[in-house]
Amino acid sequence: MILQNDFKRQWEDVEERVLDAVRRVGASGWFILGREVEAFETALARFWGVSHAVGIGNGLDALEIGLRCLGLQPGDKVLTTPLSAFATTLAIVRAGGLPLFVDVDDLGGINLQQCREALEKDRSIRFLLPVHLYGFALPMRELARLKADFGLSVIEDCAQSIGASSAGIMTGTVGQAAATSFYPTKNLGAMGDGGALLTNDPTVAKTARALRNYGQMDHYVHAALGLNSRLDELQAAIMRDAFLPNLANWTEARRRTAGKYLAQIRNPAIQVLAPLAAMNPAWHLFPVMARENSREHLRRHLEAHGIMTAVHYPRLVCDQTALESTSWVTLREPVNARKFASSELSLPVHPFLTDDEVDSVIEACNAWNP
Ligand SMILES: Cc1ncc(COP(=O)(O)O)c(C=O)c1O
Repeated sequence: MILQNDFKRQWEDVEERVLDAVRRVGASGWFILGREVEAFETALARFWGVSHAVGIGNGLDALEIGLRCLGLQPGDKVLTTPLSAFATTLAIVRAGGLPLFVDVDDLGGINLQQCREALEKDRSIRFLLPVHLYGFALPMRELARLKADFGLSVIEDCAQSIGASSAGIMTGTVGQAAATSFYPTKNLGAMGDGGALLTNDPTVAKTARALRNYGQMDHYVHAALGLNSRLDELQAAIMRDAFLPNLANWTEARRRTAGKYLAQIRNPAIQVLAPLAAMNPAWHLFPVMARENSREHLRRHLEAHGIMTAVHYPRLVCDQTALESTSWVTLREPVNARKFASSELSLPVHPFLTDDEVDSVIEACNAWNP
């Protein structure tokens, strides 16, 4: 099978470095919030080009902590997208915010023009939580203009976009803060759960460090009601030694595969989503749109050719039962988002695909007849 993610091949690439990191942490006798987390945070901040990275237990908590660091108060409105992992909206709800959904653009990212219209109509909206979905970068200049024009607090969800940029601006550097996830399937994944908050603001970083650790500003001094959401020393050491040094090469491999798919998948029933010229995606996923009502047929066809696919996401956040127990508002009908929910299919684009496997995916796509 050609997998969505091939962790066994990844292990072949990183085994020795991972084991060295595990030995080092074991021998240190220190497992929570120590030198390894600090060293990883420094390395990650340098990679990302921001002043501070704060290691957190997972991406969901990083988003919640980020919103709280930016001063979100219960009932505050937060513009966001209905096409994302449920965690994006869950973080808003957990932080006490009111999610306001708008539709998505042709690449599945939040529609920034609709955000602008919503902000013009309702001046009480102060927060925006955009997602750089699939590893595409939202138009960063436009995002920066929106933030400046309305004095917005922006936290970027970069769980899928580490290394992606648009107009030369890295995702995660326009908002006051950005959150990312190290869930194993992510471009930079841990061997377990993990996440981080990125920011250039020292006060945000300091507050995030407290909130991840029960709100503890100093030893046994609790200034806020925080979480227990600390990144482990082990995960930090593994990522710094074994995964982060490979990330640039792995992203290049994803870009090569995506380039081939873009150039060679030629089937009128499959729409590939071509990035805008100014964009340099991280290709966390390679989404295509199957002709209406034929996604399952395409999925089965590819499976019969030994190719595993996935769907991101079959059900919009605003359609999830869990939201029935809380308040939220759909400002715009999610017409485009619904097209993604019914037609999107993600092709394998992980960095360990062989040339033959990439060719097989292209051939199988081109041979499909719905
Ligand atoms: C866009 C997006 N946001 C947030 C998250 C949440 O990250 P985590 O699973 O680490 O909590 C994910 C990961 O699933 C994601 O893809």
